[in-house]
Amino acid sequence: MASPRFFLLSLALVMTILSAESRTTFTSLSSSSSSSVSAKRNFTYVCDPTRFAKMGFDVKDFGFCDKSLSYEIRAKDLIDRMTLAEKVQNLGDQAYGVQRLGLPPYNWWSEALHGVSDVGHGTHFDQNVPGATSFPTVILTAASFNETLWKKIGQVVSTEARAMYNLGNAGLTYWSPNINVVRDPRWGRALETPGEDPFVVGRYAVNYVRVVIKEEGKEGEGRERRKGQGSVHP
Ligand SMILES: *[C@@H]1O[C@H](CO)[C@@H](O)[C@H](O)[C@H]1NC(C)=O
Ligand SMILES: *[C@@H]1O[C@H](CO)[C@@H](O)[C@H](O)[C@H]1NC(C)=O
Repeated sequence: MASPRFFLLSLALVMTILSAESRTTFTSLSSSSSSSVSAKRNFTYVCDPTRFAKMGFDVKDFGFCDKSLSYEIRAKDLIDRMTLAEKVQNLGDQAYGVQRLGLPPYNWWSEALHGVSDVGHGTHFDQNVPGATSFPTVILTAASFNETLWKKIGQVVSTEARAMYNLGNAGLTYWSPNINVVRDPRWGRALETPGEDPFVVGRYAVNYVRVVIKEEGKEGEGRERRKGQGSVHP
């Protein structure tokens, strides 16, 4: 039997949040208030004034929707409005949202380890999008030791994930890459990772993450640049 340590390691996936540009990374249910957060839904801009009006709210009453405020203040505004029970309901990958605050349900679990997949409940293929590009597993790609290739794969993932979002088939959060350093071959998830060398794992992660969230360049540069543009992402 595998030790609990390996199960914990397997949970330690890095969550990559795609740059949201002019939208928030939260997404919405259309008008339905179904409690299931795994059904296909219309991913629209949460702080859309029309959306709030349909629910009988004025978006101006909700500080967390005010783009002129800092992320910190907006986050605090939202959290301060939530009851303890509501906070608990929004801690898992199935976040139930808070209907009375216009916060839609959201499923954080989507995966793109080697291409956008529908393994997680936040991503749906359908007639319009029957599938996405599936690359070889990460352990094989890493064995090429080709950083240009790692970056290109990240670019494809980024483009396809954005297209999925635009079509309402996915949110903007992916539990990828898995950068656990492999220490024991008995751990069943070695194929998801770039392998046993911490340096290679680091290089793989930098190449993949920077292009998926479109933050090429030096540490922190991209984040500052987007802050200047006033767009919204956590
Ligand atoms: C999603 O909702 C928005 C706003 O209500 C609407 O404009 C858009 O057409 C909908 N998209 C889909 C795919 O249903
Ligand atoms: C590395 O990958 C890139 C992109 O796929 C490819 O053009 C290049 O030929 C590869 N380099 C080597 C040495 O195989």
